[in-house]
Amino acid sequence: MALLPILCYPDARLHTVAKAVPEVDSRIRQLAKDMLETMYEASGIGLAATQIDVHQRVIVADVSQEHDQPLVLINPELVWTSPGTHMNEEGCLSVPGIYDGVERFDAVHVRALDAQGASRVIEATGLLSVCIQHEMDHLLGKVFVEYLSPLKRNRIKTKMLKARREDAR
Ligand code: NI
Repeated sequence: MALLPILCYPDARLHTVAKAVPEVDSRIRQLAKDMLETMYEASGIGLAATQIDVHQRVIVADVSQEHDQPLVLINPELVWTSPGTHMNEEGCLSVPGIYDGVERFDAVHVRALDAQGASRVIEATGLLSVCIQHEMDHLLGKVFVEYLSPLKRNRIKTKMLKARREDAR
């Protein structure tokens, strides 16, 4: 097991579009384990491979209180989205300390391979639905702050760059 460094916005690598995983092998299983460990350590509820600079379609999530319901989604595809949407406060391990509202589908059905390579459809509602939509955006190179106004986004960018300079001192 290993903790992996998480890329921070604004980092150009966060805008890389991930490629499909050709085969769920031991390397992918290890990647998923390391991603879950990294996510739990950072107190996150989801993590996309993009955020650790691996550009393959792998996401992990766990929205349970007890952190005992890990989900591994490989090559996730939306197969159904609800007609209704709602606004949620979102945060992201790649944009630490920033929370803002993003409009998401109320529910989604996602087809994905699990860590054993088996195809399954997850019917997600509530927080899990929001989390999966957020993580799938990462695989397309999209960070949630890109849904905000240019003014807000620039403020966040400036704040992140300033924090990074202070960390480097
Ligand atoms: Ni995120």
